[in-house]
Amino acid sequence: MKPVFHTIPRKPTGHSSRVTDALWPTAVGLTSPRMTLEPLRVEHADEAVTAWSDVSLYQFTGGAPATERQLRARYSRQVVGHSPDGTQGWLNWMLRRHDNGEIIGTVQATVTRTATGRMNAELAWVIATNHQRQHLAGEAAATVIAWLHQVGIDDLTAHIHTDHLASAGVAHHLGLRPTTVIVDGEVEWRSGTRRNH
Ligand SMILES: CC(C)(COP(=O)(O)OP(=O)(O)OC[C@H]1O[C@@H](n2cnc3c(N)ncnc32)[C@H](O)[C@@H]1OP(=O)(O)O)[C@@H](O)C(=O)NCCC(=O)NCCS
Repeated sequence: MKPVFHTIPRKPTGHSSRVTDALWPTAVGLTSPRMTLEPLRVEHADEAVTAWSDVSLYQFTGGAPATERQLRARYSRQVVGHSPDGTQGWLNWMLRRHDNGEIIGTVQATVTRTATGRMNAELAWVIATNHQRQHLAGEAAATVIAWLHQVGIDDLTAHIHTDHLASAGVAHHLGLRPTTVIVDGEVEWRSGTRRNH
């Protein structure tokens, strides 16, 4: 799965932001036992530049540590909350530990709608290297998933490199299961529950 970089669709259709804002849920502040999940702000770049500086974070997803300026530019695009053509909703949370106040990770949900109107959330997670192996990704993502259910999104996907045991472990804990679908060399994981709205 490719965290952090939302794909920007190539052909903007000129939807006004008023229209597109109404089509997608807006991220709200959430709390888990060990973290506050803050909706992304451009100012988070100040702290994220340090948190995301370890090259090993990009081993399975590609990419490289960004400068603060690059992060600010990226976050400026992402805080809009949807793709330029309105076909994707972009929900981003920064994870702040209660115990030391540090930004230590992120959870993303990229929301799309099927022809029948059902919404699907593509999930991605990142935990800064020195905070890994404490089940923080699963805790944060479970909190996001509970909120997604509240706003009517039950269909979840994640795309995970076949060798990425940590990310597969997180997805498994969240109730997602691997499918036979491969996208750009990554296995598509899916939630099993499909309720009708
Ligand atoms: C994937 C990632 C978010 C996992 O975060 P985490 O909070 O450390 O994950 P957890 O502590 O919940 O670990 C999940 C499972 O993987 C295992 N695991 C964690 N790191 C591992 C590693 N490097 N190698 C093998 N297993 C690992 C854990 O033991 C756990 O299994 P368990 O429940 O049986 O104990 C983190 O490794 C990361 O940010 N990686 C870089 C960014 C990335 O690749 N994101 C995923 C793509 S979107």
